[in-house]
Amino acid sequence: MKRDSQIFDLIQAECQRQTSGIELIASENFVSNSVMEAMGSVLTNKYAEGYPGKRYYGGCQIVDQTESIAIERIKTLFGAEWANVQPHSGAQANMAVLLTCLKPRDVFMGLDLAHGGHLSHGSPVNSSGILYKPVAYSVEEATGTINYDKMEEVALRERPKLIIGGASAYSRDWDWKRMREIADKINAILMGDISHPAGLIARGLLNNAVQYCHIITTTTHKTLRGPRGGLILMGKDFENPWGLTTPKGEIKKMSQLLDSAVFPGIQGGPLEHVIAAKAVAFGEALSDDYLNYITQVKKNAQVMSQTFVDLGYKVISGGTDNHLMLIDLRQKFPNLTGKLAENTLVQADITINKNMVPFDSRTPFTTSGIRVGTPAITTRGLKENDMHLIVELLDDVLSHIDDTNTIEKVKKKVNQMMSTRKLFAW
Ligand SMILES: Cc1ncc(COP(=O)(O)O)c(C=O)c1O
Repeated sequence: MKRDSQIFDLIQAECQRQTSGIELIASENFVSNSVMEAMGSVLTNKYAEGYPGKRYYGGCQIVDQTESIAIERIKTLFGAEWANVQPHSGAQANMAVLLTCLKPRDVFMGLDLAHGGHLSHGSPVNSSGILYKPVAYSVEEATGTINYDKMEEVALRERPKLIIGGASAYSRDWDWKRMREIADKINAILMGDISHPAGLIARGLLNNAVQYCHIITTTTHKTLRGPRGGLILMGKDFENPWGLTTPKGEIKKMSQLLDSAVFPGIQGGPLEHVIAAKAVAFGEALSDDYLNYITQVKKNAQVMSQTFVDLGYKVISGGTDNHLMLIDLRQKFPNLTGKLAENTLVQADITINKNMVPFDSRTPFTTSGIRVGTPAITTRGLKENDMHLIVELLDDVLSHIDDTNTIEKVKKKVNQMMSTRKLFAW
């Protein structure tokens, strides 16, 4: 069959874009050749509704093994008793947990979306906000950090059935122990969405969410450096003291309820090629090389945020404990929007995303902030010294936002810097 050059030429162009630029989007990463190979394998041809050993289709004897390996590896990585690796994405994993734990219009609590929370934690345009009743906790304006006393006040007042910790744009560690104490006071379920810092948590560089949360969700493609996807974990399976039921009204263990919420609750056939790629990525994440990598991700982020501060930028909360930071542009450039910063930096082959900052005076479409992170550039082998250079290049562009000469000069330096760096780590 003739090669579809219309599409494959574009894939080649995207490969060139990724290779020649500096990727600072905190939620992105570059997977290994092995992860890529598993994703592009014949496993995409297989239907496998159900779970290993209990499928609705014949011929699942091989994918039963790849899926079981993925489950065992992720359990080992997090020291967890139970896992479901089928969610197609992080949002799907969250949707399955909400379907398990809540009835329509039940109250749940998550971080304010304008303060770094995620759409699937209660946005009015997401199923979480359409079907259920979200209430929010927030960060303090003065410190940019979560005030757990105030979180407790909201919890005691609103009595949510489920509390969600975790965020898309929060650079500090989470006090999971304190959150569990708050949840226990009102007999709520605590869910930790560790989509962003999963790799740091897995390798012991941040507080252990698995120890304190009843349920954990995560994406697999951010710091975990796997294929696009999601999963659900439990440190310990529960007998379900909350009396949660299946749609037929049967009270079952949490693991059974979560499994049936993923399939058939919200999904059909699992993506077995992606699940095999997850298994490969989890295997990599268990290695010493990955520990070195994720340790460097954190070091790079700390150097990067300090360099921003040294150049006069306001980093929300003053720094970072993880792989990302949120920058309020208003301190250094009162008239510069996140949108213009994003669009101009792209011209210099530096990719970031505009982001609301807490108590933002602008809309989500313009924003006063940008979010940057180090997972992708660390995969490409960049170290502390490179972080200084990158922030200086970024600052050069933002300080000369209308100057095409500067943008062109920075772009050349960016392309030069990345020209010797392989895209794939392994
Ligand atoms: C905290 C958090 N949860 C969930 C998601 C959703 O993941 P996905 O895009 O895979 O649905 C994201 C994605 O950015 C996230 O940051």
